Amino acid sequence: MCGIVGYVGPRQSESILLAGLARLEYRGYDSAGIAVIDGDGHLGMRKRAGKLKVLRDDLGSDPLPDGTTGIGHTRWATHGGPTDGNAHPHLADDDKLALIHNGIIENFAEIKAELVSEGYAFRSETDTEAAAILLGREYHAAGEDLEAAFRAVVTRLDGAFTLLAMHQDHPGLVVAARRNSPLVIGLGEGENFLGSDVAAFVEHTRNALAIGQDQIVAITPGGVTVTDFTGEPVEVEPFEVLWDAAAADKGGWSSFMAKEISEEPEAVANTIRGRVKDGQVVIPELDGLDELFSGITRVIIIACGTAAYAGQVGKYAIEQWARVPVDVELAHEFRYRDPVIGDDTLIVSISQSGETMDTLMAVKYARERGAKTLSICNTQGATIPRESDAIVYTHAGPEVAVASTKAFVAQITALYLLGLHVGRVRGSLGATEAAQHVLELESIPDKIRQILEDEQGHIEQLAHWMADTRSVLFLGRHVGYPIAMEGALKLKELAYIHAEGFAAGELKHGPIALIEPGQPVFVIVPSPRGSAVLHPKVVSTIEEIRARGARVIAIAEAGDAAVLPYADEVLRIPLAGPLFEPLLAVVPLHIYAMGLSTAKGLDVDQPRNLAKSVTVE
Ligand code: F6R
Repeated sequence: MCGIVGYVGPRQSESILLAGLARLEYRGYDSAGIAVIDGDGHLGMRKRAGKLKVLRDDLGSDPLPDGTTGIGHTRWATHGGPTDGNAHPHLADDDKLALIHNGIIENFAEIKAELVSEGYAFRSETDTEAAAILLGREYHAAGEDLEAAFRAVVTRLDGAFTLLAMHQDHPGLVVAARRNSPLVIGLGEGENFLGSDVAAFVEHTRNALAIGQDQIVAITPGGVTVTDFTGEPVEVEPFEVLWDAAAADKGGWSSFMAKEISEEPEAVANTIRGRVKDGQVVIPELDGLDELFSGITRVIIIACGTAAYAGQVGKYAIEQWARVPVDVELAHEFRYRDPVIGDDTLIVSISQSGETMDTLMAVKYARERGAKTLSICNTQGATIPRESDAIVYTHAGPEVAVASTKAFVAQITALYLLGLHVGRVRGSLGATEAAQHVLELESIPDKIRQILEDEQGHIEQLAHWMADTRSVLFLGRHVGYPIAMEGALKLKELAYIHAEGFAAGELKHGPIALIEPGQPVFVIVPSPRGSAVLHPKVVSTIEEIRARGARVIAIAEAGDAAVLPYADEVLRIPLAGPLFEPLLAVVPLHIYAMGLSTAKGLDVDQPRNLAKSVTVE
C-alpha cells in the first residue's frame, strides 16, 4: 500500500519518478505527488488527489522546474481522506524538506501533540506529516545532517514505515529508512534509485540491493550507504532482477488482468522450470534443508485472500503425498490466538508481494516461537522471504493488476512441488508415483492454454449476458471448494457483486435457503473418472438446486455428460487428475470475473478501495 520512488543522478527526475509511479500505481491509486530539487537548489512539489493521471495532467500544463533529485509517491489512504492536502510529499522546515511515507505511524498523535505544543503548524490530517515535521526539527538538532536526523526520528516512531526524504540544502541526496515496510535500491551508472519494489526502476537497471529491517539508506549519484538505526554500516544483499521492464507492461492487452490471465500457462510452466530432474522434483533452493521437513509433525500454511485459497488447495496435496497434517490459517487470525507451535511445526507462508503485513507479522511471530518457516513468494527482494528459513519462489513474473490471477496458479504449482518434495524426503511417496504426479503437473500449462483458446469467448459472452446479476454463488467440493471461494472473491472485488463460495456438501446445512428462481450458481464438478465418489454427489447437489430454480453454470471435465441434463451452461476443462483440476477450474472463473467487470464498465485492474500490496495490518 502506497508506492514510493526516489532518484538521484544526472537525468531530469520528473519523468523517471512519474514512470516509476505508473509501475507502482497498483500499490495505491487515490492520490499521487512528487518533489524535485531544481538546479538552483530549490525544492518544488506537486500533489493531487485522484489517479496518477491527474498529477500527470497537472504537471503537463504547469511543469515543475527541472531537477535531478526527486521523490514520488502514490497513495492508498490510511490516516486522512484522499485529498490534495493529505497526498504526499509532506513538507517541513519552511518547505525545504520533503518526505513521503508508506505504512502507519501508530504513535503519530503523541508526536503531533508534542510538535504542536512547540508551535509547529500542520497542514494535513495524516500521520506522515508528524514524521516530516519531526525530521525537520531533528535536522537542525543534528547540525543539518539528514542521516543523523533520520536516526533520531526512527527511534521515536512506532508502527510500520518506509520513509524517503530530501532537503534542498543537500541536492543529490535522498535518505530513506524502513521498518516492516518494503524498500529496495536500484544501482545505476552514476545514478541510483529507491523503490517500494523493483518495478519502480527496472526500466533503468536490473541490479538491485535488498535492504533488511530497521535500516537507513542514503543514495547519491556516486554511491549508496546502508546503516542500521544506530548508524553502524550493514552488509546488503545484491540481486539481479529476473524480469525486464517489458514484462511489467500491458503489451497491447486491454488490461493487465487480461494479460496476466493469458500468462497463467507460463506462470505454471516457469514455476516448474528448473525444478524437475530425471522425472523427480528437485528444488535447488531447498538443497541441504531436509531437516526442515523430516522432524516436523505438522504444517501450518498462513496467507491472506487468494493466497490463502491457494494454501487450501495445497493442503489436500501435501497431506496426501507427505502424510503430514496441514492446517491453513488466515495470517491475521493466526497470530492473535496463541497458537500451539514449536520446532516441530513448519510454517509455510504464501504471498505474491512478499510484503503483506498480516502475513509478515504471522511469520515473525511463528519464528519467535521456534517454528520453522518457509516462504512461497513471487517477488525478489521482498520482506517475507527474508524473514524465513527457506524460500521457494513462484515465477509468475510481475503481477500488476490488483486482483491476483496468474500468481494464484503459480502458488498452487509451488505448493504441489513442495508437497512432492516433502513426500519424497519423508519417505511417504514412492519415486514412481511422484514421477506420475510430476508428469501431470507438467501437462497443466497446455491444458490451461486449451481452456483459453476454447472457452474464453464463451465465458466472456456469458459474463456480458449476466452484467445485471446482483448475486452469484459458487459451489465446489474437495479441492473444488477453495476454487469456489476464489471465484467468489474475484467477482466481489472485480465486479462489486455479492458472491459467496460454499463447500457443496454444506449447502443443505443452510445456504440452500438462498436458492430462488434465477439465482446463478457456478458448480465446480469433480472428474467422474478421478473422483468416482464425489462426482455423483456433486451432480445430486446440482439436481437439488436446479429443482429450486437455480441457473446452473457447471465447470466440468470434457466428456462429462452427467451434468448436461441439469446445467444451463457447461464450461469445459480438459481431463486432469483430481488434485490437478483446481489449476484448470479456476481459469474460467478468472475470465468470468474479468468479463463481468468489463461488461459493467469497471476498472478491472484497479478496483475501488483496494491496493495490491497490503502493508498495513
Ligand atoms: C485477491 C488478492 C488478495 C491477495 C492478498 C494477499 O485477488 O489479490 O486477496 O491475494 O491480499 O496478497 P499477497 O499474496 O501479496 O500476500
